[in-house]
Amino acid sequence: MSLLQTLLQRQAIRAYDGRPIEKEKIEQLLEAAILAPNDRLREPWHFYVIQGAAKERFNQLAQDFLLERFPTKPHLVEESMKNVLATPLIIVATSQIIEGDEASSLDNDYAVSCAIHSMWLMASELGLGFVWRTRGVGLARDERLKAFLSLSDQEKVIGSLFIGYPTDEATPRTVRKPITQKTTWVE
Ligand SMILES: Cc1cc2nc3c(=O)[nH]c(=O)nc-3n(C[C@H](O)[C@H](O)[C@H](O)COP(=O)(O)O)c2cc1C
Repeated sequence: MSLLQTLLQRQAIRAYDGRPIEKEKIEQLLEAAILAPNDRLREPWHFYVIQGAAKERFNQLAQDFLLERFPTKPHLVEESMKNVLATPLIIVATSQIIEGDEASSLDNDYAVSCAIHSMWLMASELGLGFVWRTRGVGLARDERLKAFLSLSDQEKVIGSLFIGYPTDEATPRTVRKPITQKTTWVE
């Protein structure tokens, strides 16, 4: 498949059929991730693979978060939890914070973002549904997730990657504005 075809095929897929993901496929995602460009070869990423019993503990975290965030919206909590429960695999990607060096820390975040995009493309090629979550049940900015993973103060969550085999229902494709609206040819 050409690179353009791969890029066109990639999309955020949030509905999964619950089937577990084979270990070889998880390893292929991780192998793709670590090829990402990164400043001064710091390789500033770490990946936490959450499945099985750990995923069940994550489900509880997500439910606690949702009940706290939406105390008066039980239907919303239930609907969100359906998605979480049908997700067999979550990979949390973290970036290394360099104390006293904000610029390098930011570059580390960019590198991890590149790694996540590589994983997303690889997931698409492997027929896996994938979405990068930061908000909501992604818990990327929630202290609960840091505690759950026993993250050090030098680790920052860049994304919780929800992964599963897609359901039969097709996800509508998103569209982009034309490049003319997003480009200035500086003269
Ligand atoms: C940094 C980042 C954070 C995101 N956070 C969320 C999220 O919290 N929840 C979610 O459902 N999707 C999230 N997404 C996925 C986007 O919503 C999705 O990529 C966007 O709607 C475009 O759709 P497409 O990826 O299918 O083209 C995130 C994407 C990025 C790059």
